[in-house]
Amino acid sequence: MHNGNSGFLIRRLKRRDREDLISNYYALYDEVKHNPSLGIPLLRRRPSINEEYKWFTGMLSKERKGEAIISVAEAEGKVVGMCDITKYSPRVEQSHVGTVGILIREGFRSKGIGTALLKDVIKRARPRYSLLSLHVFGNNGHAMHVYQKLGFRVYGTLHSGIVRSGNKIDDVLMCLKL
Ligand SMILES: CC(C)(COP(=O)(O)OP(=O)(O)OC[C@H]1O[C@@H](n2cnc3c(N)ncnc32)[C@H](O)[C@@H]1OP(=O)(O)O)[C@@H](O)C(=O)NCCC(=O)NCCS
Repeated sequence: MHNGNSGFLIRRLKRRDREDLISNYYALYDEVKHNPSLGIPLLRRRPSINEEYKWFTGMLSKERKGEAIISVAEAEGKVVGMCDITKYSPRVEQSHVGTVGILIREGFRSKGIGTALLKDVIKRARPRYSLLSLHVFGNNGHAMHVYQKLGFRVYGTLHSGIVRSGNKIDDVLMCLKL
């Protein structure tokens, strides 16, 4: 899907996206040093390249088997964003609920890419899920604005559920009924 003449393309995940997606994820470990409000919780140490390859192989396989919905955004010849919906739980009684994750690479934010990616995965999720859920940092006004614009509503808050560099941040839960 081309997004008008906005300079980016939204499409499904492909095998060749591996290196760009890993690079986007690794970049977060540098970003958090100058952007303490980065809205993605990180692991204690940066995963190894082999761990990342395993993660990518797993995601691609889930996409191909229809167990995950994954769309990416391409701009300037690189994949600069990804949005995925995976199962909220392996339990059959919760198989109608999907969990959303999204990341746009620094430098490509606030250009409409996140909104376009989310719209795409929500459209693709409709036949499979009837409810979507996500976590967002309480201080991530930008992400919350985008989610609310697309119809997500807050349904709970785990106060001080995140601690980064000694600062307490709320873990906010949002959902969208499809
Ligand atoms: C949050 C994120 C996914 C949003 O994607 P994006 O491509 O940057 O966002 P868009 O360009 O589509 O959205 C722009 C909108 O956000 C608004 N916005 C920008 N900064 C904002 C802020 N600080 N507070 C509130 N709204 C803000 C803009 O005004 C614009 O609003 P409009 O569409 O109503 O005109 C992206 O910035 C990102 O990946 N951030 C880092 C990782 C992250 O936080 N992921 C979410 C984890 S829950």
